[in-house]
Formats: sequence, C-alpha cells, structure tokens
Amino acid sequence: MTAPQNRRVLITGSAGEIGCVLRAGLYGGGRTLRLFDIKPQAARPDEEVLAADIGDTAALAQAMHGIDCVVHLAGVPREGAWDAILPNNIIGTYNVFEAARNAGVKRVIFASSNHVIGYYRATEAVGISEPERPDSRYGVSKAYGEALGRLYADKYGLEVACLRIGSFRARPQDARQLATWISHRDMVELVRCCIDAAPFHFLVLYGVSNNARNRWQNPDAATVGYRPLDNAEQYAAELETIKPSAGDPAADFHGGAFCALEFTGDARRID
Ligand SMILES: NC(=O)c1ccc[n+]([C@@H]2O[C@H](COP(=O)([O-])OP(=O)(O)OC[C@H]3O[C@@H](n4cnc5c(N)ncnc54)[C@H](O)[C@@H]3O)[C@@H](O)[C@H]2O)c1
Repeated sequence: MTAPQNRRVLITGSAGEIGCVLRAGLYGGGRTLRLFDIKPQAARPDEEVLAADIGDTAALAQAMHGIDCVVHLAGVPREGAWDAILPNNIIGTYNVFEAARNAGVKRVIFASSNHVIGYYRATEAVGISEPERPDSRYGVSKAYGEALGRLYADKYGLEVACLRIGSFRARPQDARQLATWISHRDMVELVRCCIDAAPFHFLVLYGVSNNARNRWQNPDAATVGYRPLDNAEQYAAELETIKPSAGDPAADFHGGAFCALEFTGDARRID
C-alpha cells in the first residue's frame, strides 16, 4: 500500500456528523480525501467530491478508483424502519465492500456500533470475543456489516477494521455517555491510526475515549496504536443526575435507550 502519509482515502457519509469532523481532522499532510455522500459538498485542494448514493454501484465503482483505504460511514445512524435500514445499511454496505474488492482497494474501515452488543448487562464488561447481541434493527445491520467485513478479509484478503463507535459527541450528554463517549479528537485519532497502521487482517475496535467508566475491553487498539486522550469523567458531576431508573432496559443494558425502544420482552430472561 502507498506510504501512510500519502494514502488516498475515500470517506462515504462524509457530509455527516462524524464525516465532517474526520474531513477536518484528516485533511492535509499529503493525504488525498475523496468525499462521497448523497449531500453535495464543495472540494478543497487535495479533496475530490462525489455526490451519489451507496445504492448506485456505478458511482461506487468510480469512487473506488485509485483508493488505498475506504472509511465507510454512510447509512442510517440510529434505529429506524426496516425500509430505511435495508437499502442504506444492509445493501449499501454490501455495495461498498464489493466495490472495494473489485477495485483492488486494500483496506476498509467500517463504522460499526456499540449497539451490536447492546443487550449485555451494563454491570458486565464486554470485549470483542463475545457473541453479538444487537439491541435494534440498526444493531443487526452493524453486526451484518462486521460479518461482511470478516468475509471480505478471510475470502478476499481485504484488511478490515470494524469500529464499534460509542457516543460521538462534542461532550457527553447523559450518565450513560460517561462510559460510552468518544470525543471528536479521539475519533479522528482512531480513524487516523486505522488508516496509517501497518498491514493487518481483521480487527474490531471500540470507538471510545479514555473514560474512567469505560466497560469495553479494546485489545485491538494496541495493534493500530490507538491511545485515546479524553475522559468523560470531567462531566460526571453535572450528568450523573440524568439517568434512567433501575429496571428500565435503558439503564440495565449496554445499549441504553435503544434497548428500551419497542421493548416487550422479559428483561429477567436476558442473562
Ligand atoms: N454518531 C455516533 O455516535 C455513532 C455511533 C455509532 C456508530 N455510528 C455510525 O457512524 C456512521 C456516521 O454516523 P453520523 O453520526 O456521522 O451520521 P450522520 O447521519 O450525521 O451521517 C451519515 C451521512 O451518510 C450520508 N448517507 C446516508 N445514507 C446514504 C446513502 N445511501 N448514500 C450516500 N450517503 C448516505 C448522509 O447524507 C450523512 O451525511 C454511521 O454509519 C453510524 O451508524 C455513529
């Protein structure tokens, strides 16, 4: 692959919240950014822009040309109707991996989510070897994306890093996010580490800051050299009061409010 400082990086979903922060944080230093989003964007020097849908396989083929690494963010970023999750997160993610393979792209960084392990008890730490336990159709779509990534790594030799992003915010908003927050600068650093890292096969990393209350074990962080700097604890005094009551699935499980959405199950049976 091209030397790290000169890598050509395609960002899907580049006009979104994470995409805009990555675009600013990764800009410059010899790296070329190609920005792909259904929303129009204006290019700066060393940037290229494509306004298209990840449902459009011809546009994706064009976007992959000459690219070293894809950062795949595009999709529905929260729980949604199946009619929205299916084309954007399921079919769209397949299209991105398949276009990368066909173009000979070496590396794909996939924006997964903590919601792939949402129904683990909040009192337990969770790592990357436990079976997935999605808390939503959205979480299922991310588990699917991780499985697709594993397939493309094993079968086709792509290097794939799946980022189980926690809560990407300028600052944490509630008590849960004291554990799950990832700051803007740590998010940029995580993605930069994955772009620049020496060759790897398949990694799963939690996208989380250096929070004192973090409950996610992150062994693959060392492989890419990710060392987060921010800690949500500085916001604890003001946020600890804003939390759901015990017995509420939003409080009892890793996935927070997503676990309570449409919940008609029996929480006692979720061991
Ligand atoms: N923000 C978080 O805290 C968080 C946490 C976990 C995972 N993630 C994941 O990170 C990614 C980015 O999240 P975000 O918060 O920036 O979301 P966002 O909604 O702000 O950005 C998503 C971008 O993707 C684009 N997009 C959506 N569907 C598309 C399509 N079919 N074709 C082309 N572009 C399309 C949108 O126009 C938007 O600009 C998502 O995949 C999300 O699931 C985010």
